[in-house]
This record gives sequence, C-alpha cells and structure tokens, in this order.
Amino acid sequence: MSIDTMKAIRLHEFGGPEVLRYEEAPLPELKPGEVLVRVHAVGINPPDWYLREGYKDLPPEWRPSVPFPIILGTDVSGVVEAVATDVQGFSVGDEVYGMVRFPSFGESAAYAEYVAAPASDLAIKPAGIDHVHAAGAPMAVLTAWQFLIELGHNEPNPLQPEMHRPLPLNGKTVLINGAAGGVGHFAVQLAKWKGAHVIAVASGKHESFLRELGADEFIDYTKSPPEDIANDVDLVLDTLGGPTTSRFLRTLKRGGALFPVFLGFSDAEEAAKLGVTVSMTQVRSNGPQLAELGGLLNDGTVRVAIDSMFPLANARMAHERASSGHIQGKIVLTVE
Ligand SMILES: NC(=O)c1ccc[n+]([C@@H]2O[C@H](COP(=O)([O-])OP(=O)(O)OC[C@H]3O[C@@H](n4cnc5c(N)ncnc54)[C@H](OP(=O)(O)O)[C@@H]3O)[C@@H](O)[C@H]2O)c1
Repeated sequence: MSIDTMKAIRLHEFGGPEVLRYEEAPLPELKPGEVLVRVHAVGINPPDWYLREGYKDLPPEWRPSVPFPIILGTDVSGVVEAVATDVQGFSVGDEVYGMVRFPSFGESAAYAEYVAAPASDLAIKPAGIDHVHAAGAPMAVLTAWQFLIELGHNEPNPLQPEMHRPLPLNGKTVLINGAAGGVGHFAVQLAKWKGAHVIAVASGKHESFLRELGADEFIDYTKSPPEDIANDVDLVLDTLGGPTTSRFLRTLKRGGALFPVFLGFSDAEEAAKLGVTVSMTQVRSNGPQLAELGGLLNDGTVRVAIDSMFPLANARMAHERASSGHIQGKIVLTVE
C-alpha cells in the first residue's frame, strides 16, 4: 500500500497562532529538478508569521493572494526519500538541509513530514550538527551571508533599484542591532570570522551569549539608546530595520553603510548628506551557499543557538513563543 498523505501544519485562513492546523495533507509530488525530503526538523522564521497573519504589516502591493489551504515554512533538515531522475548530487538516504522556495510559496513547504524541494535549494547537512541545529540555520544564516558576505545571485532586487553589495569586513567596526535573534547571532559570528570588530546590540539578558559568540562590545538597548553610544562605525546591520533604522545614520563614519534587514527606511536625504550608503536585499534560497556555510557550521566556526523546540503538532505554541519576543537564536519544530 503506498502512502499518499502526511501530517502537516496547514492554514485555511489568516489569523493568530490558533489558525495553524495540524492535519492530514497530500504527500507532495516529486517534480523534475526536485528532491523529496523526509523532514526531521523545521526552523521557524518571521516570514512564517507574516504569511499566517496575511502580511498585514506589509504594503498592500506586497500582499500576495494565497491559495488556501497552504503549508507554512521554508527551513528544513531531513533525509532524502526520493530524487527526480534529472537531479544529480543527491541520493536517497542523504542528510540534507535547506531554505525551500523563498521568496515564493503555495507549493510544498516545510511544516510537514515531507517536503518536495528544488535540488538547488538544498545542501548536504553538516555532519557535525544534528537536524535540529541544521534546521535552525538556513533562512537566518543565508540572510546574514547575503547581506554581509556574498549576495550569490543576479535576480532583480525587489527592495531597491540597485543590487545589494556586501562590503569588506576585515578590520572594520560592525554594529549588529538585534544581535541575539536568528539573523543577528549569525551576523555576529560571520562578521567576527571575517575579522571585524563587532558591537552587539540586544537586551541585557543576551550579553554573555553574545560575548561567547565573539562580540567585542555589547550595548543593552533597554538601558541606553545604541545611537547615543556608538560612533565611528563602518557598517550597521540592523536586523530590526523599519522606520527606526535611520537613528543609526549618526553612528556611522562618512563612507560607512547602513544595511536594514526589514523595510521602512525613508531618510535618503539625510543619508546622502552624511555620506552613508543605505542598502538592503531580500534573502533567496541558495543550496550552494549552504554547502559553503556547511564547513563553518561543521567545525563550530558558526554555531546555531536554539531558543526553544516544539513538536510539529504544537507549531501554535512555537508561534506563541515567537510573538512573546526576546528570541535568543532559533525556534525549531521537531518531526517524529
Ligand atoms: N531582508 C530579508 O530577506 C530578511 C530575511 C530574514 C529576516 N528578515 C527580517 O529580519 C528581522 C529579524 O529576523 P530574525 O529571524 O532575526 O528575528 P528574531 O529571531 O525574532 O530576532 C529578533 C531579535 O531582535 C531583538 N530585539 C527586539 N527589539 C529590539 C530592539 N528594539 N533593539 C535591539 N534588538 C531588539 C530581540 O531580542 P531582545 O529584544 O531580547 O534583544 C530578538 O533577539 C525580521 O523583521 C525579519 O522579517 C528579513
């Protein structure tokens, strides 16, 4: 008897964490170019709850129409169950991880027992870390990598007319705002790896965590505004972004750069006056970059911090944890 259904978390409507339904869903069909992965762990990310809520905080032109019911999620780690005949480089039984199909959705996705992923979105899982840690990495580490190290594609940038360009980091002072979160904790480690002097900004409870990851300086934003303390910075990676990101302009040297990770910057005139470049991009799936990052994850140069874990069936609790904020590292769902 062949199995044609699986358990998954599906959305039938937008709303709060209560709309996440654990239920039977069709097993994804393997299309050309794809690999069927039996999922062991799922990393959750802010775009999961933006989609769950119907992208209510994004401009209307950014809100896609959604073909309910849909499965949420992008980040998986698991074992290859089947491989399309035209795919090379993956075999049944391989342990793999990846960020599946971002930025797009509506097809097979991550909050499920199986996902059919484009082979180009996957890489072999680093042997030195387990599925939970591997699933915590893809979107957050690729965001840090594509902002700071290498963009890795030539697709048009939906967030600005020009392509985003990472800058050399060696010997530079780099301030990471939101340093304890998913993107931030990877950005701290990658900037250190590249030889930067790193200033981490987070709430006080994360200080020892961030110093262990390599932060040279720590600013507790609950005690003092970081823009009143930091100055002469070469690069600010603001993982919060949004309209408040402009406050970092005055912390930067002339010739410096501000990289907001979320939409909302609107002070182009002030940036030009101060001689500061402002640039952002949208992360894209990239298996080859994850293969390269695999070496750093494998030897511990880059660590994945786990904030908390929940069984797939309790995805609702994972989203509730996320909405309470102050995340340290990554929230991961485990799949039986
Ligand atoms: N451009 C892209 O393609 C892209 C890709 C991925 C993510 N993003 C966006 O990047 C943002 C961060 O994602 P993430 O996965 O890193 O989120 P996350 O894991 O939820 O981390 C957010 C972190 O920000 C900290 N924080 C909250 N308020 C703060 C403040 N006022 N000042 C400094 N830190 C503060 C939180 O902890 P504490 O408050 O305790 O310090 C938390 O650690 C999200 O908005 C996401 O949508 C964009």
